[in-house]
Amino acid sequence: SELYAVIGDPIGHSLSPAMHQFWYKNNHMACHYHAFKVSADDLADAVKGLKAIGIKGFNVTIPHKINIMPLLDHIDEEAKMLGAVNTVVNRGGELYGYNTDGLGFLLSLEKEVPEILKQNPKVLIIGAGGAARAVGLTLAKHAELKQLDISNRTIDKAKRLSSECEPLTKTRALSLEEAKGRLPDYDLIINGTSLGMAPHTDQTPIAIMPSERRQVFVDLIYRPLKTAWLRQAEAEGHTVLNGLPMLIYQGALAFNHWFGFMPDTKGMQMFLERKLE
Ligand code: ATR
Repeated sequence: SELYAVIGDPIGHSLSPAMHQFWYKNNHMACHYHAFKVSADDLADAVKGLKAIGIKGFNVTIPHKINIMPLLDHIDEEAKMLGAVNTVVNRGGELYGYNTDGLGFLLSLEKEVPEILKQNPKVLIIGAGGAARAVGLTLAKHAELKQLDISNRTIDKAKRLSSECEPLTKTRALSLEEAKGRLPDYDLIINGTSLGMAPHTDQTPIAIMPSERRQVFVDLIYRPLKTAWLRQAEAEGHTVLNGLPMLIYQGALAFNHWFGFMPDTKGMQMFLERKLE
């Protein structure tokens, strides 16, 4: 049987093994998916080892998404743009790097909130870390936006990400205070920070203001399934989406790189919701 894996540190809480094994089982595939804890110091040895045992493919997570790149033989365009790899395919001993995080997010929006990207939305992203970067650059490249503003506690990081988006879309960097005042102007507001993630479930990234506009609030967090921030947005009558579809679609796109077809995502949603409840 064929081996697949995810490497990261920490790795214990990764949902990827459960997700991929569920798809293997449902599709009657003789494949195994294992989580390996690999420290930053061991990354090069681990990749060599995985190659030596003939692994067919693997996912890469924190803290290796950037440092894996020089260890691979080929990097696709999307991964180059993001400067990070989350999926590797072994083709005859050559390792190909891909990134499905950004496109997974895009697909989650298209599937779960199908109107939003069709209306040239004004978008606010809160955060400028790895997750916010994947989402921001992917939206800038693949969606038609009226505006893409990036707000972060550390304003320099927001400025850096905004300037990377500059050639692709109309963009500004804002302080959290500025973003808060302008919140009612946006059609789509995305939390890419860790604020509200378990165990700090009472924290929220930005105060929600009453708005005439019907807004869409997306939180990349899926632990808890509905953050305090999404609950507030929902109480104000807004549309909300959590980070679970993004997780599922990045996994489904990785699966597609390995096997050439998209697995069932609806069944996966129910399976993981039950696991995370
Ligand atoms: P990831 O790869 O998951 O995006 P990250 O790169 O560590 O993680 O980014 C975490 C994000 O959450 C950053 O935007 C961070 O803001 P800073 O760049 O200012 O550090 C944001 N964040 C984390 N804790 C925060 C807090 N207490 N208040 C405001 N922002 C916070």
